[in-house]
Amino acid sequence: MPVEPLLTTRLRESTKSLHAEVERAGVMRLLLRGQLNRAGYCALLRNLHAIYAALEARIQQHNEHMGLRRLHCETMFRAAPLADDLARLHGQNWAIDIALVPAAVAYVQHLKATTVPLLLAAHAYVRYLGDLSGGQMLARVVVKSLQLAPNEGVCFYDFGSEDTVKRLAQEFRAGLDLLVEGEGESGQAVVDEARAAFVRHRDLFEQLAPTLPS
Ligand code: HEM
Repeated sequence: MPVEPLLTTRLRESTKSLHAEVERAGVMRLLLRGQLNRAGYCALLRNLHAIYAALEARIQQHNEHMGLRRLHCETMFRAAPLADDLARLHGQNWAIDIALVPAAVAYVQHLKATTVPLLLAAHAYVRYLGDLSGGQMLARVVVKSLQLAPNEGVCFYDFGSEDTVKRLAQEFRAGLDLLVEGEGESGQAVVDEARAAFVRHRDLFEQLAPTLPS
Protein backbone atom coordinates (compact mmCIF):
# COMPACT_ATOMS: atom_id res chain seq x y z
CA MET A 1 0.00 0.00 0.00
CA PRO A 2 1.47 3.43 -0.88
CA VAL A 3 2.53 5.49 2.13
CA GLU A 4 0.50 8.70 2.54
CA PRO A 5 2.76 11.78 2.63
CA LEU A 6 2.90 13.70 5.92
CA LEU A 7 0.30 16.43 6.39
CA THR A 8 3.05 19.08 6.51
CA THR A 9 4.33 17.90 3.12
CA ARG A 10 0.85 17.94 1.65
CA LEU A 11 0.13 21.40 3.03
CA ARG A 12 3.35 22.83 1.69
CA GLU A 13 2.94 21.27 -1.77
CA SER A 14 -0.74 22.16 -2.09
CA THR A 15 -0.30 25.79 -1.08
CA LYS A 16 2.99 26.52 -2.86
CA SER A 17 1.50 28.33 -5.85
CA LEU A 18 -0.98 30.20 -3.65
CA HIS A 19 1.89 31.30 -1.42
CA ALA A 20 3.62 32.76 -4.47
CA GLU A 21 0.40 34.63 -5.28
CA VAL A 22 -0.17 36.11 -1.80
CA GLU A 23 3.45 37.19 -1.52
CA ARG A 24 2.83 39.44 -4.52
CA ALA A 25 -0.79 40.39 -3.86
CA GLY A 26 -1.76 44.03 -3.32
CA VAL A 27 -0.51 45.44 -0.07
CA MET A 28 2.04 42.62 0.41
CA ARG A 29 3.77 43.63 -2.80
CA LEU A 30 4.03 47.21 -1.56
CA LEU A 31 5.25 46.04 1.83
CA LEU A 32 7.97 43.87 0.30
CA ARG A 33 9.15 46.71 -1.92
CA GLY A 34 9.37 49.04 1.08
CA GLN A 35 6.66 51.23 -0.47
CA LEU A 36 3.96 50.92 2.17
CA ASN A 37 3.47 54.02 4.30
CA ARG A 38 2.54 54.06 7.98
CA ALA A 39 -1.20 54.46 7.35
CA GLY A 40 -1.22 51.57 4.88
CA TYR A 41 0.77 49.39 7.26
CA CYS A 42 -1.58 50.21 10.16
CA ALA A 43 -4.57 49.29 7.99
CA LEU A 44 -2.94 45.92 7.30
CA LEU A 45 -2.24 45.31 11.00
CA ARG A 46 -5.73 46.40 12.05
CA ASN A 47 -7.34 43.95 9.61
CA LEU A 48 -4.99 41.15 10.65
CA HIS A 49 -5.79 41.89 14.29
CA ALA A 50 -9.48 41.18 13.70
CA ILE A 51 -8.61 37.87 12.04
CA TYR A 52 -6.21 36.77 14.78
CA ALA A 53 -8.64 37.80 17.52
CA ALA A 54 -11.37 35.63 15.95
CA LEU A 55 -9.00 32.71 15.34
CA GLU A 56 -7.48 32.84 18.80
CA ALA A 57 -10.85 33.02 20.56
CA ARG A 58 -11.91 29.92 18.60
CA ILE A 59 -8.70 28.05 19.43
CA GLN A 60 -9.16 28.85 23.12
CA GLN A 61 -12.69 27.49 23.00
CA HIS A 62 -11.25 24.18 21.81
CA ASN A 63 -8.35 23.93 24.23
CA GLU A 64 -9.42 20.42 25.18
CA HIS A 65 -8.79 19.17 21.64
CA MET A 66 -5.59 17.12 21.75
CA GLY A 67 -4.67 17.74 18.10
CA LEU A 68 -4.95 21.52 18.48
CA ARG A 69 -3.14 21.48 21.81
CA ARG A 70 -0.11 19.82 20.23
CA LEU A 71 0.31 22.89 17.99
CA HIS A 72 1.00 25.12 21.04
CA CYS A 73 -0.81 28.00 19.37
CA GLU A 74 -1.35 29.88 22.63
CA THR A 75 2.38 30.54 22.94
CA MET A 76 2.22 32.25 19.53
CA PHE A 77 -1.02 34.23 19.83
CA ARG A 78 -0.67 37.50 17.91
CA ALA A 79 -3.74 39.60 18.78
CA ALA A 80 -2.05 41.22 21.81
CA PRO A 81 1.27 42.05 20.06
CA LEU A 82 -0.69 43.47 17.13
CA ALA A 83 -2.72 45.68 19.48
CA ASP A 84 0.57 46.93 21.00
CA ASP A 85 1.97 47.76 17.56
CA LEU A 86 -1.23 49.55 16.52
CA ALA A 87 -1.28 51.62 19.71
CA ARG A 88 2.34 52.59 19.09
CA LEU A 89 2.10 53.26 15.34
CA HIS A 90 -1.41 54.73 15.13
CA GLY A 91 -2.59 55.65 18.64
CA GLN A 92 -5.03 54.30 21.22
CA ASN A 93 -8.12 54.70 19.00
CA TRP A 94 -6.90 52.37 16.27
CA ALA A 95 -9.88 50.02 16.56
CA ILE A 96 -12.35 52.87 15.97
CA ASP A 97 -10.32 54.88 13.48
CA ILE A 98 -9.27 52.12 11.08
CA ALA A 99 -11.92 50.30 9.07
CA LEU A 100 -12.08 46.62 8.26
CA VAL A 101 -12.28 45.77 4.57
CA PRO A 102 -14.99 43.32 3.42
CA ALA A 103 -12.52 40.41 3.06
CA ALA A 104 -11.53 40.76 6.72
CA VAL A 105 -15.17 40.95 7.84
CA ALA A 106 -15.94 37.82 5.80
CA TYR A 107 -12.86 36.03 7.20
CA VAL A 108 -13.88 36.85 10.78
CA GLN A 109 -17.41 35.61 10.13
CA HIS A 110 -16.02 32.42 8.63
CA LEU A 111 -13.80 31.79 11.67
CA LYS A 112 -16.69 32.44 14.06
CA ALA A 113 -18.76 29.89 12.15
CA THR A 114 -15.98 27.27 12.05
CA THR A 115 -16.77 24.70 14.72
CA VAL A 116 -14.40 21.92 13.61
CA PRO A 117 -11.07 22.14 15.50
CA LEU A 118 -9.14 20.50 12.64
CA LEU A 119 -10.12 23.32 10.33
CA LEU A 120 -8.90 25.92 12.81
CA ALA A 121 -5.52 24.20 12.59
CA ALA A 122 -5.46 25.01 8.85
CA HIS A 123 -5.81 28.73 9.61
CA ALA A 124 -3.20 28.47 12.36
CA TYR A 125 -0.87 26.88 9.78
CA VAL A 126 -1.32 29.72 7.30
CA ARG A 127 -0.82 32.43 9.93
CA TYR A 128 1.64 31.18 12.52
CA LEU A 129 3.94 29.21 10.24
CA GLY A 130 3.96 32.17 7.86
CA ASP A 131 4.83 34.54 10.71
CA LEU A 132 7.61 32.22 11.87
CA SER A 133 8.99 31.96 8.30
CA GLY A 134 8.77 34.94 5.92
CA GLY A 135 7.43 37.15 8.73
CA GLN A 136 10.86 37.28 10.31
CA MET A 137 12.29 38.94 7.21
CA LEU A 138 9.32 41.30 6.92
CA ALA A 139 10.14 42.76 10.35
CA ARG A 140 13.39 44.15 8.93
CA VAL A 141 11.64 45.58 5.86
CA VAL A 142 9.04 47.31 8.07
CA VAL A 143 11.63 48.85 10.42
CA LYS A 144 13.57 50.16 7.43
CA SER A 145 10.73 51.47 5.29
CA LEU A 146 8.79 53.11 8.15
CA GLN A 147 12.06 54.35 9.65
CA LEU A 148 11.27 52.92 13.05
CA ALA A 149 13.66 52.63 15.94
CA PRO A 150 14.82 49.01 16.39
CA ASN A 151 11.98 47.05 18.04
CA GLU A 152 9.53 49.95 17.79
CA GLY A 153 6.10 48.78 16.65
CA VAL A 154 7.21 45.33 15.46
CA CYS A 155 5.99 43.15 18.36
CA PHE A 156 3.94 41.28 15.76
CA TYR A 157 7.05 39.52 14.41
CA ASP A 158 8.67 38.94 17.78
CA PHE A 159 8.48 35.33 18.93
CA GLY A 160 11.74 35.42 20.87
CA SER A 161 15.24 34.39 19.85
CA GLU A 162 16.12 32.72 16.55
CA ASP A 163 16.33 29.40 18.37
CA THR A 164 12.88 29.92 19.82
CA VAL A 165 11.47 30.70 16.38
CA LYS A 166 13.03 27.49 15.03
CA ARG A 167 11.73 25.43 17.94
CA LEU A 168 8.19 26.82 17.65
CA ALA A 169 8.12 26.04 13.92
CA GLN A 170 9.44 22.51 14.54
CA GLU A 171 6.91 21.84 17.29
CA PHE A 172 4.11 23.23 15.16
CA ARG A 173 5.05 21.01 12.21
CA ALA A 174 5.37 17.95 14.46
CA GLY A 175 1.92 18.72 15.88
CA LEU A 176 0.46 19.08 12.39
CA ASP A 177 1.78 15.66 11.41
CA LEU A 178 -0.08 14.11 14.35
CA LEU A 179 -3.20 16.21 13.82
CA VAL A 180 -5.42 13.80 11.92
CA GLU A 181 -4.28 10.73 13.88
CA GLY A 182 -7.30 9.01 15.38
CA GLU A 183 -9.68 11.53 13.82
CA GLY A 184 -10.81 9.04 11.17
CA GLU A 185 -10.09 11.39 8.32
CA SER A 186 -7.34 11.83 5.76
CA GLY A 187 -6.49 15.45 6.32
CA GLN A 188 -7.83 16.50 2.93
CA ALA A 189 -10.30 18.85 4.65
CA VAL A 190 -7.36 20.55 6.40
CA VAL A 191 -5.48 20.94 3.11
CA ASP A 192 -8.60 22.35 1.41
CA GLU A 193 -9.20 24.79 4.27
CA ALA A 194 -5.58 25.98 4.16
CA ARG A 195 -5.91 26.65 0.43
CA ALA A 196 -9.12 28.57 1.04
CA ALA A 197 -7.37 30.56 3.79
CA PHE A 198 -4.67 31.61 1.33
CA VAL A 199 -7.35 32.77 -1.11
CA ARG A 200 -8.95 34.82 1.70
CA HIS A 201 -5.58 36.44 2.36
CA ARG A 202 -5.12 37.21 -1.31
CA ASP A 203 -8.51 38.98 -1.34
CA LEU A 204 -7.63 40.84 1.85
CA PHE A 205 -4.31 42.09 0.49
CA GLU A 206 -5.89 43.17 -2.77
CA GLN A 207 -8.69 45.07 -1.02
CA LEU A 208 -6.16 46.84 1.17
CA ALA A 209 -4.29 48.20 -1.84
CA PRO A 210 -6.83 49.78 -4.20
CA THR A 211 -4.30 52.13 -5.81
CA LEU A 212 -1.23 50.03 -6.41
CA PRO A 213 1.58 51.45 -8.56
CA SER A 214 2.33 49.02 -11.41
C1 HEM B 1 5.18 38.90 1.58
C2 HEM B 1 6.12 38.26 1.82
C3 HEM B 1 6.37 36.84 2.20
C4 HEM B 1 7.57 36.27 2.11
C5 HEM B 1 8.86 36.93 1.64
C6 HEM B 1 7.45 34.91 2.56
C7 HEM B 1 8.48 34.03 2.62
C8 HEM B 1 8.42 32.76 3.13
C9 HEM B 1 9.53 31.87 3.29
C10 HEM B 1 10.98 32.19 2.93
C11 HEM B 1 9.07 30.73 3.81
C12 HEM B 1 9.91 29.51 4.19
C13 HEM B 1 9.79 28.45 3.10
C14 HEM B 1 10.52 27.21 3.51
O1 HEM B 1 10.57 26.86 4.71
O2 HEM B 1 11.01 26.55 2.63
C15 HEM B 1 7.65 30.89 3.98
C16 HEM B 1 6.84 29.93 4.48
C17 HEM B 1 5.50 30.11 4.70
N1 HEM B 1 4.76 31.24 4.45
FE1 HEM B 1 5.43 32.93 3.64
N2 HEM B 1 6.17 34.68 2.90
C18 HEM B 1 5.46 35.83 2.71
C19 HEM B 1 4.14 36.02 2.94
C20 HEM B 1 3.31 35.08 3.45
C21 HEM B 1 1.91 35.29 3.72
C22 HEM B 1 1.19 36.59 3.47
C23 HEM B 1 1.43 34.12 4.21
C24 HEM B 1 0.04 33.78 4.63
C25 HEM B 1 -1.03 34.36 4.22
C26 HEM B 1 2.52 33.17 4.27
C27 HEM B 1 2.42 31.88 4.73
C28 HEM B 1 3.48 31.00 4.79
C29 HEM B 1 3.37 29.63 5.29
C30 HEM B 1 2.12 28.94 5.78
C31 HEM B 1 4.65 29.08 5.23
C32 HEM B 1 5.04 27.66 5.61
C33 HEM B 1 5.09 26.80 4.35
C34 HEM B 1 5.40 25.35 4.70
O3 HEM B 1 6.58 25.06 4.90
O4 HEM B 1 4.47 24.54 4.80
N3 HEM B 1 3.64 33.79 3.80
N4 HEM B 1 7.28 32.13 3.57
